[in-house]
Amino acid sequence: MTIHRIGIVGGGLMGSGIAEVSAKAGLDVTIREIDAATVAAARSKVEKSTGRAVDKGKLDPETREAILDRITYTTDLGDLADRQLVVEAITENEPLKLEIFSTLDKVVEDEDAILASNTSSIPITRLAGATNRPQSVVGLHFFNPVPVMGLVELISTVLSSPAVEARAEQFACDQLGKTVIHAKDRAGFIVNMLLVPYMLEAIRLYENGVATAEDIDTGMRLGANHPMGPLTLADFVGLDTAKAVADVLYDEFKLPQYAPPPLLVRMVEAGLLGRKSGRGFYEYQ
Ligand code: CAA
Ligand code: NAD
Repeated sequence: MTIHRIGIVGGGLMGSGIAEVSAKAGLDVTIREIDAATVAAARSKVEKSTGRAVDKGKLDPETREAILDRITYTTDLGDLADRQLVVEAITENEPLKLEIFSTLDKVVEDEDAILASNTSSIPITRLAGATNRPQSVVGLHFFNPVPVMGLVELISTVLSSPAVEARAEQFACDQLGKTVIHAKDRAGFIVNMLLVPYMLEAIRLYENGVATAEDIDTGMRLGANHPMGPLTLADFVGLDTAKAVADVLYDEFKLPQYAPPPLLVRMVEAGLLGRKSGRGFYEYQ
């Protein structure tokens, strides 16, 4: 069954990207943000991303206009009542996400609608438990930047229905053109189980004075052909998100390699969140 109407909760880095690719695929998109200022920020992210795509010849101006026209912004979760799929993409914070899932359960009218989370790490079963329809809840984990990255991790739980999982896969593959990989429901799924400890290890190297941030990043760019070094990547992901994911991994596995390094914790406490706040391991305009 083709999805025509998608709701996205949270229009930050990820939610705005999921909105852009969904609107590009022809879907009617509604983004729920917190207030007028965060709605304006979400709108501006989509405008900038699609504007850059036009400048680079990846998108024609008419398609850009169509994308912008297909996205509606709201601060009212009730406006997601008629959605066939809702992707939650708010801050990586379990209590906040539980509240959203509990409310979505009450407001989304279609019993067959899919309720998905874009969480980087939080077990989906816990989010499903906040609803009375755990069979309809899956993880749909997109990658940053969503318009450019080709992957979606699909996480089903012991309670998800195979039909819901199949429809979610069809949406990500056939409608959005992403490659889907499947993961069991444990913290970090596949990619972040590998990527986040790597970023944390780079922060420890820097924290221990082994090398400069620039040399750590250059090492992995030129020595391993990564498009970005790990500290640039951590800034790009958001240090708040990187720390939150580390906390979830540590909570799940209790292994020291997942514990956020003190420097990361202090930077987040200081409001140095990476690119989105203008300063992390590097400074940004
Ligand atoms: N629509 C369509 N195409 C777009 C676009 C858009 N909105 N925005 C950019 N593009 C295109 C560009 O035109 C460009 O195409 P060409 O290569 O053909 O020129 C391509 O996408 C790359 O974009 P840019 O030129 O703007 O940027 P770049 O070449 O400097 O690469 C990058 C930027 C893609 C981010 C690259 O540095 C990269 O891949 N970095 C690593 C990203 C990564 O690892 N992401 C995963 C983060 S972890 C995560 O997401 C999981 C989690 O839970 C934390
Ligand atoms: P972000 O900080 O850029 O955006 C989060 C957005 O959620 C903000 O705009 C905030 O205003 C909004 N928000 C918070 N509470 C809300 C609520 N109750 N209702 C509506 N909106 C609310 O974060 P992000 O990087 O977009 O991350 C969002 C989710 O995606 C997280 O779960 C994160 O782990 C996951 N994720 C992040 C990345 C990444 O690289 N940053 C990659 C994949 C997945």
